[in-house]
Amino acid sequence: MCGIVGYIGTQAATDILISGLERLEYRGYDSAGVATILEGNINCIKAKGKLYNLREKIERDVNPAQIGIGHTRWATHGKPEERNAHPHLDMEKRIAVVQNGIIENYQQIRDELKSKGYEFRSETDTEVIPNLIAEVLKTAEEDFLPRYARLLAAVQKTVNRLKGAFALAIICADYPEEIIAVRQQAPLAIGFGQGEFFCNSDVTALLPHTRAVLSLENGDIAKLTPLGVEIYNFAGDRISRFPRTLDWNPVQTEKQGFRHYMLKEIYEQPAVVRTCLDTYINPNWHADENPDFSPVNIGLSPITDDLEHIQILACGTSWHAALIGKYLLEQVAGIPTTVDYASEFRYSPKPIIPNTLTIGVTQSGETADTIAALESERARRAGLEPKFQAKLLAITNRAESSIAQICDRIIDTHAGIEIGVAATKTFVAQTMGFYFLSLDLAYRRQAIPNSRIEEIIEGLRHIPSQIETILDTQADAIEELAHDFATETEDFIFIGRGINFPIALEGALKLKEISYIHAEAYPAGEMKHGPIALLDNKVPVVAVAMPGSVYEKVISNAQEAKARDARLIGVTTAMNATEAGHTFDDMLTVPEVDELISPILSIIPLQMLSYHIAAIKGLDVDQPRNLAKSVTVE
Ligand code: G6P
Repeated sequence: MCGIVGYIGTQAATDILISGLERLEYRGYDSAGVATILEGNINCIKAKGKLYNLREKIERDVNPAQIGIGHTRWATHGKPEERNAHPHLDMEKRIAVVQNGIIENYQQIRDELKSKGYEFRSETDTEVIPNLIAEVLKTAEEDFLPRYARLLAAVQKTVNRLKGAFALAIICADYPEEIIAVRQQAPLAIGFGQGEFFCNSDVTALLPHTRAVLSLENGDIAKLTPLGVEIYNFAGDRISRFPRTLDWNPVQTEKQGFRHYMLKEIYEQPAVVRTCLDTYINPNWHADENPDFSPVNIGLSPITDDLEHIQILACGTSWHAALIGKYLLEQVAGIPTTVDYASEFRYSPKPIIPNTLTIGVTQSGETADTIAALESERARRAGLEPKFQAKLLAITNRAESSIAQICDRIIDTHAGIEIGVAATKTFVAQTMGFYFLSLDLAYRRQAIPNSRIEEIIEGLRHIPSQIETILDTQADAIEELAHDFATETEDFIFIGRGINFPIALEGALKLKEISYIHAEAYPAGEMKHGPIALLDNKVPVVAVAMPGSVYEKVISNAQEAKARDARLIGVTTAMNATEAGHTFDDMLTVPEVDELISPILSIIPLQMLSYHIAAIKGLDVDQPRNLAKSVTVE
């Protein structure tokens, strides 16, 4: 969603704010703005559209202010117009506020302020905040406070009136030596430099400046001054929190010569899988030695002991990884598993089953629906007898994120930071997380023979070099094929079965996200029950046909599409290519692989196909329209 930055220190704030926003642009990019305090006044500059529009405007108006806040927007209330861009100022233009989130009771506050004579310039929920702070600051009570405490006290009173999930950064021209930052269910981190302090929606954006960071917790109000950072709760009590040192490398957030982040992240996948394997697979585990320890070092006992049921909650691509997880947890570990969209589960949770593990899957670690679904699951089971109580596990690459804070345990997928809005490497890494979890459970429950577990692990060990083979041998052919679909194709259908049905879904999602071509996915066997009516020679069909238990079935379903004149593109193994060539018009081949681990290979050519179609169309691959990488509103 929206991104927030703040800076107070000895350097020119605007440059730092803009470079901070550049690193946050993936969160939202329909308008942007900064506000600084200069010569006793707020100086606010905003621009519609991408950040370069704002940068251009600012270059015409360079200023030396050493304090400021900034924002990149993903519209919720009000169109993406300059008047709705943040920062928002109070009527007197003394206070500037940036917000990420939604103020649910803004209409009521707006009406109340209007009745007191306040006028509003935007349609946003945020604009009530600077005006409410201004109103509170007017009251006599604040005047009795020492000057240094007034703004903080006014913000504290204001946030207690706000309902919703939000993060804020606030400056006031009458208090030019402080930024107030607030976190209430939307992420916000503070960076500690030498005589300078930063705030940012994403800790990674702080990396170029400092590694000493503090992720605020819900209900924290931070006061940043040139002398330091003080943290308070909403009741006004001072609380102590300590920064920690991030060990991330800022280079991870650079493009490193690739045309787009998405392409770079596709090429990072072999390394991501290697790191996962090195981290979690126990090299001393050999089936024929009858080991008395798990082949996987994920150490999730006791939350995974005596499980009767697993429920997985996720959104978007993470939901697709969850579907592969369900297949594995049921077919490999033998545990009944459900998968729900977090946004649905929140309002229609399943009946409570004892000994249930609830898993949240998320690449950002901040998705509001996923976090809220997990929190509500914890709440509704609290107070019940132990076997009914919530056991929460997160599968994420963001070990420092909100989800990690609310779950009992996490599987850190070690995929690192993903910048391209369309998820690629984080999907593969989440899927790896599910392999590890199901292998650990399968071993501990003796759900399948150890020899089969070893076979699966052996297969997984080959995955990194097999992905490299696909990237090395298929890239040119896929790019060439992409040209055929870049101009006239308006619809695509993807089909798959079994463990590769989620790959059909993910292939379709990748295509629509970045190329804006309409794409739908169906279980191959369902085609004939409706979707087949859509087919003609203008609608290509991609069939994920990996050799194994359902291969022949998928081929038959693909033939049914071919009989309706659809151009057929098959994702299959190279060894199968000659035979499959009779069915498919085009083929995207991957190395020979066990069906159970084939999704990690079959997704790769589909990521590449989507990428190239979008790149050929000249679209903004990394920041597709209307999307955001971190969805912190409901
Ligand atoms: C957004 C992103 C998607 C992502 C989804 C879920 O819509 O654009 O790429 O799959 O959120 O995000 P999460 O962080 O929970 O995995």
